[in-house]
Amino acid sequence: MNPKDIKFFNKFFRNYTKKFYSDAEIDDETKINLKLKEVHTYRVYRNITYISKSLNLKEEEINLAKAIALFHDIGRFEQLRQYKTFLDRKSESHSEMGLKILYEKGILNWMEERERKILITAIKFHNVREIPKNLNTEELFFCRLIRDADKTDIFKVWIDYFEHKSCYNPSYGMDLSDSDEYSHNIISDILANKISLLENIRTYNDLKLLLLTWIYDINFDASLNLILKRKYMREIFKILPKNKEMKKVFEHVHFYISER
Ligand SMILES: [Fe+2]
Repeated sequence: MNPKDIKFFNKFFRNYTKKFYSDAEIDDETKINLKLKEVHTYRVYRNITYISKSLNLKEEEINLAKAIALFHDIGRFEQLRQYKTFLDRKSESHSEMGLKILYEKGILNWMEERERKILITAIKFHNVREIPKNLNTEELFFCRLIRDADKTDIFKVWIDYFEHKSCYNPSYGMDLSDSDEYSHNIISDILANKISLLENIRTYNDLKLLLLTWIYDINFDASLNLILKRKYMREIFKILPKNKEMKKVFEHVHFYISER
């Protein structure tokens, strides 16, 4: 993929997202959360560029990674407009919606076959719990890249929300409880180095704990470095209840990171 393609894709993304804000049928709260996905996309774009460069990828590959980042959440805009939620299980898969839009707008046809296949696969599996085993080496690589770049920014999105640093609401349509409770299953997952499922989340504390488990699904050292440099793990512990169990969890996560 060459710089001209990336320039064209950026322009397409800008124009595509712009029309949602001037749509009189979309309420203000939804528009604020559309903006969340727009700013998130640009940060994922910067994350993926940083990670790709630190892996010494060729320029064409960095450009392909940028295109994947730019389009990975494009389905969120239609999802929010139609269903007013970020939850796929209450609406539709946002990655499938995104791919449909890219196809209908002719964006996929703009790419040559090899890159198109990689981009489709990476977007399709950017948010599934486990990447399918039957991908080829390249597809798997770009899948891992977008998953890292995306997760790295989702830490920030939630921390900003919990610390009242943003007007966006990433829990839009999620119905989470504000109680002090948290699920002991997620604690067990953390201590077993396992990723928890979004389906198990009942409270905001559960969600903070789920974010901690994502550290086990970070593929590249460059991504881990970004997470550490930006102190995301430490910020999450700051906003969790303080007790013996959390101390154990903190020490476990800390040990895992230092071992890596
Ligand atoms: Fe994303």
